This record gives sequence, structure tokens and C-alpha cells, in this order.
Amino acid sequence: MEKLKTIPVHIGIIMDGNGRWAEKRNLPRILGHKEGIEAVRRTVQASIKYNIKYLTLYSFSTENWKRPKEEIEFLFSLMEQNLKKEGENLNKNNVRVRFIGRIWELPSNLIEIINYVENLTKKNTGLNLIFAINYGGRTEIVDGIREIIKSGYRVEEINEELLSKFLYLSDVPDPDLIIRTSGEKRISNFLLWQSAYSEFYFTKVLWPDFDEKDFLKALLDYQRRKRKFGGIIEK
Ligand code: IPE
Ligand code: IPE
Ligand code: MG
Repeated sequence: MEKLKTIPVHIGIIMDGNGRWAEKRNLPRILGHKEGIEAVRRTVQASIKYNIKYLTLYSFSTENWKRPKEEIEFLFSLMEQNLKKEGENLNKNNVRVRFIGRIWELPSNLIEIINYVENLTKKNTGLNLIFAINYGGRTEIVDGIREIIKSGYRVEEINEELLSKFLYLSDVPDPDLIIRTSGEKRISNFLLWQSAYSEFYFTKVLWPDFDEKDFLKALLDYQRRKRKFGGIIEK
């Protein structure tokens, strides 16, 4: 077995394919989401095991409001239940849980548990587990620009560094690796600004089937990449 040498500091995952996982089994789509929670659990465990510092999980996009009301409500209640259930456990594992997106637009019960878990785990120094909920990359950039204008910056002061400070993850390094499951090869409005130089890994595995073995495959693939950031590699 190939050895792990370079480990990504920050991994982002577009957790896709829950619906298709259920449809293949003639089950309602929501059961795919339920099973997807198990994959989240396995991925968090694997991230701890492989010493990943930041894991960002795309859980609900600003475009996912286009789905049927019942599916949306189910997703939110699933998040609420599982955060309640896992909060203490994550805390014991030294995980710091954070959230990005327009959190204030979510149902109040979910906001409550989000605030609770964020607060409970805020001093932890292990894995930073970031859930992107009601998140959209374009919205994030627009919101950041609005804040810059409100704060009264002059045109000459606006640069990449300043805008980065006004985005959600201003203290978090850009993702080194972005994984998307289910075979789709697109970004779907995830971390648009931050992914400028990310490596992408696509797998056909549907999210509810994703396990430690698949995670490791992505890590091994990542370490074979030659990252150049526009420069050249010195021989
Ligand atoms: C990803 O699975 C979960 C969310 C977007 C919330 P999907 O629900 O998009 O699954 P498919 O793409 O329909 O299979
Ligand atoms: C992206 O998946 C959003 C999340 C995983 C939360 P979608 O299933 O919503 O993306 P599209 O519609 O196929 O691009
Ligand atoms: Mg999908």
C-alpha cells in the first residue's frame, strides 16, 4: 500500500448522490439523506484519524430551496437531530464545529442547536468541522462586498486580502482538496473564491456509500498532484 506523505490541511466535500442512492433501491429520497448521515460520521472519523485540520461539508446550498418543501424540512430536522445527538461526542473528540452560510435564514430550532454546538466546541483544538448550510459562493462574495461598502472602505483599499477578510472563513486556509461524490463534475456554487487553486477529486461513489476506503483513495490521489499555483516546479 502506498504511503501517505502529503496530507491536505483543508478538505471540502460536495456530498452528492443521496437521492440517487435511494431511487436505486426504490426508496423515498429522504431515506438517502438519512443514510448520508452515516457517511458524514465515517468521514469525520477518518478525518480525525488522518489528522485533517479542516473539513468543510456542503450540506445545503442556497439553490437547494428549489426542492420540495417536505424534502427541505426533512433535511433541516435531520441536521437538528444529529447535531443534538452528536454534539457532546464531537466535543469529547476535541472537534470544533462551525457553520457557514446564511444561518439566520434557517428554522429557529436549527439555529438554536447550531449556536449551542458552536459555543460548546469553540475552544477545541482538533479537527475543525465546518458545515456549509444555506451556503452559496456567490452570495458569500456579494455579502462580503456589501459589508466592505458599509464599513466605508475607499476604492483603493479594496484588494484580494481585504475581501478575503470579509468572507465566512477568513481565518481558515483555502481548501487544498475538494471531493465530489456521485459522478457529477461541477462546483455547484461551493467555495467559489476559496477554490481558486484547489485540487478536485471526483468519484462515482454515491454519498451514502462513501467510506474510509474512498476517503483514503482521494488522499492518495491528492498526494500525486503537482501543485504549481501558476509558477513552475524547480528541478
Ligand atoms: C446531496 O444529495 C444532498 C443535498 C444536496 C442536500 P442529492 O439530494 O443532491 O442527491 P441526488 O443528486 O439527487 O442523487
Ligand atoms: C450540491 O449538490 C449541494 C450540496 C451537496 C449541498 P446539488 O445536488 O444541489 O447540486 P446540483 O444541483 O446537482 O448542481
Ligand atoms: Mg444532487
